[in-house]
Amino acid sequence: MVKDYIDTNDFTKEELLGMVELGLSMKAMIKEGGRYPQILKNKTLGMIFQQVSTRTRISFETAMTDLGGHAQFYGPGTIQLGGHESIEDSARVMGSLVDILMARVDRHKDVVNLAKYSAAPVINGMSEYNHPTQELGDLMTMMENLPEGKKIEDCKLAFIGDATQVCVSLMFIASKIGMDFVQFGPKGHQITDGGLQVENKVDLLAIGQKNCEVSGGTITISDDIECIKGADFIYTDVWYGLYDDEVEGASYMDVFYPKYQVTMDMMNYANPASKFMHCLPASRGEEVVDEVMDDPERSICWDEAENRKHSIRAILATLCPKTVENAEAADAAEARMKAALEKLA
Ligand code: CP
Repeated sequence: MVKDYIDTNDFTKEELLGMVELGLSMKAMIKEGGRYPQILKNKTLGMIFQQVSTRTRISFETAMTDLGGHAQFYGPGTIQLGGHESIEDSARVMGSLVDILMARVDRHKDVVNLAKYSAAPVINGMSEYNHPTQELGDLMTMMENLPEGKKIEDCKLAFIGDATQVCVSLMFIASKIGMDFVQFGPKGHQITDGGLQVENKVDLLAIGQKNCEVSGGTITISDDIECIKGADFIYTDVWYGLYDDEVEGASYMDVFYPKYQVTMDMMNYANPASKFMHCLPASRGEEVVDEVMDDPERSICWDEAENRKHSIRAILATLCPKTVENAEAADAAEARMKAALEKLA
């Protein structure tokens, strides 16, 4: 397995499903009254946030505590990153001070460079290009809500709206797993228009299609609502956001409303049993109506938010280097420290 978690495409289907299984087994164990294995005792996670966050920050911090470790939060402007000190130098230093790093960055190339120069593993907590930890939690949520008699590979996932980094990441993970993925969105805001990535534009669809060649999945991108027919999962994201390329101000309403708003009619048009997903935060009344979001049968977005923590716990358990205790070496180190302290007394 790779050292860092920067892009879903760096992992195999088996590795992704393995992490989901690990996350689900720890979740089940806790619900049955078990205890988290303290496998990250004395380990420290450094959390770099160049953007605001609720779910990602809380999930990482809580997951680290659950496994016996500790998380440090570095909010915007609180560390010397990318200003006075280059990303490369910061990565070298931070990678030697903590055991594992996560970063939510303004520019994807920054998290790539952090990983390149840090000795400690680096996890991408979202960039303008992708949001891979979100997608692992989403995969977990879909696995928990499979339609009767269907495997995950048999399911159809329809993303409604703008080709945000969440949309692109969903396409990546769905195509890795072998699902049928659809983006129902307006021209100019489709995956084939390049997503949000402002630098190093890549052929996003080609990446997904390459995954499909291996997995047997399919990708459809269209502004015809017919494409969502038969979807098991309907997913949406806000119509504006934190990154440069996203639609500015109120003009997003002209582009997306009302055609791309998720309503109960749209949910039923897709499939009367379809489930609603959203990475959150949501702008209620814009990309989704209350009736859908608050429907206890159809909406699984709250479980999805909780699953951020359960899936991130699995990512940390998998990637954070563990200490293998050597009792003899530990005793010798303790004796040396005691001797040094006695000398100082
Ligand atoms: N979905 C998500 O990443 O939420 P936050 O921005 O609150 O972390």
